[in-house]
Amino acid sequence: MLLKDKKYNRRFFFKSAIAGMTIAMIVVWDKMLFTNKNIHSLKSVKLTFNPNKRINFADNYIIIKNDETIRVFSSRCTHLGCKINESSKNQLLCPCHGSTYNFDGIPTKGPAINPLEEKDFVIDNEHNTITISV
Ligand code: FES
Repeated sequence: MLLKDKKYNRRFFFKSAIAGMTIAMIVVWDKMLFTNKNIHSLKSVKLTFNPNKRINFADNYIIIKNDETIRVFSSRCTHLGCKINESSKNQLLCPCHGSTYNFDGIPTKGPAINPLEEKDFVIDNEHNTITISV
């Protein structure tokens, strides 16, 4: 009888320990995610650009003006990450392996197959600056 009680106590202890560790891991994981969200949302870069140009290559971003809309993309090619810094005939050109993208960030010629990463931004028209969430 005494031996059974020890088994029960050991089993109870392990179940409690596993439950406690699971709860601790969930709390830590939740805090890590919350912290990352805060850091991520606080990161931004402020750049100057020419609002009269259709395409602005600014730092690591491409600012594209289509009629009245503006879109901002990462200049990092989705093939192997080269910096896209040239445009021609309504195409963005990657200098490394020849991928091209249209002005919606969609690849029109490989080897890249994924669209450019689009970025959120806020424009300050008074100072011709754009703040891009990174
Ligand atoms: S890195 Fe752009 S095509 Fe390869």
